[in-house]
Amino acid sequence: MDDEKSNDDGCETVDNRPQFGTRSLPRDGNIFQHNAWDNVTWNEEQEKLAQRKVDENSIVTVSPEQLLKYETDADKYWDKFYGIHNDGFFKNRHWLLTEFPELAPDTVKQNTERPMRVALTNEAKSHGRRHIKILDLPCKDGCRILEIGCGVGDTVFPILAYNVDPKLFVYCCDFSTKAIDILQQNSAYNVDRCKAFVLDVTQETWTTPFEVESLDIVVLIFVLSAIHPDKMQHVVRQIHRYLKPGGLVLFRDYGRYDLAQLRFKKGSCLGGNFYARGDGTRVYFFLQEDVRTLFTDNGFIEEQNFADRRLQVNRGKQLSMYRVWIQAKYRKTLA
Ligand SMILES: C[S@@+](CC[C@H](N)C(=O)[O-])C[C@H]1O[C@@H](n2cnc3c(N)ncnc32)[C@H](O)[C@@H]1O
Repeated sequence: MDDEKSNDDGCETVDNRPQFGTRSLPRDGNIFQHNAWDNVTWNEEQEKLAQRKVDENSIVTVSPEQLLKYETDADKYWDKFYGIHNDGFFKNRHWLLTEFPELAPDTVKQNTERPMRVALTNEAKSHGRRHIKILDLPCKDGCRILEIGCGVGDTVFPILAYNVDPKLFVYCCDFSTKAIDILQQNSAYNVDRCKAFVLDVTQETWTTPFEVESLDIVVLIFVLSAIHPDKMQHVVRQIHRYLKPGGLVLFRDYGRYDLAQLRFKKGSCLGGNFYARGDGTRVYFFLQEDVRTLFTDNGFIEEQNFADRRLQVNRGKQLSMYRVWIQAKYRKTLA
């Protein structure tokens, strides 16, 4: 991830900022007044410029042998990544429980109601907020959560810390043995409430410590983008198999025209909107529609799907950077 040195998922490192998703740029406002602005809208010109950049960096010059190596050695590239960055890369996930209160509903219950994003579908153009009653949230007792591509636990540990359900059990897997080793050595790793294991989710069959139809929630945070687009559908079908009827997928990942996509140089593209970083790890940039098709074609109902557009500002260098993430929630049908 040498071409994206900063925390790449929109994590803020500054405390005491307004709640994630609530700071909107006033019309004609001074963008350098704050570090970040939420819910930024793009104009046509900006979209065109971004597409031009993508067109420029989309010419595939990687040899078929190298393409194959990226695929067959994918876990080794990630092992190397975690060997270098250890547990210091994806940090300060302030947005996690705001965006996904389902992961710790009892903590949320303290306020009875709290602001969260409205469930967005095709028809909803803007992503405003509404207050939802805690009763709407699933998984209130004895929740079984699986995080896929958990890395070193930057999502798992906040769940364990904030979810006060005594029967909670969190499974988490990654195909990087190095990441799982680091996660298991963390002092917050509690075997009574958590089980981390190595699994390549692109494999035809999964060996898991849980049964089919036994999970309440599957978490996909910046992981599907690391998987070859041809294999994403298989992963989604497997998730469907292991979720209980009515179970929920929580998804957040890179969106089309994110700064990280525009920064790729020629020669990094492996195919449509899929790139290799300098360290061999790969990343896909999703459209809302990609995510929708993946899930609704495979037995899920859409509860939320929106593009989270954010303007990040480096006040010292007077630089502005546009970030785009897709956030979505899909539920396995009951029938
Ligand atoms: C960008 S990192 C995100 C890590 C973590 N979800 C987070 O947000 O901190 C992508 C993770 O997905 C894992 N991964 C990629 N392909 C995978 C696969 N086929 N099976 C399981 N894990 C995979 C990588 O090892 C890496 O830990």
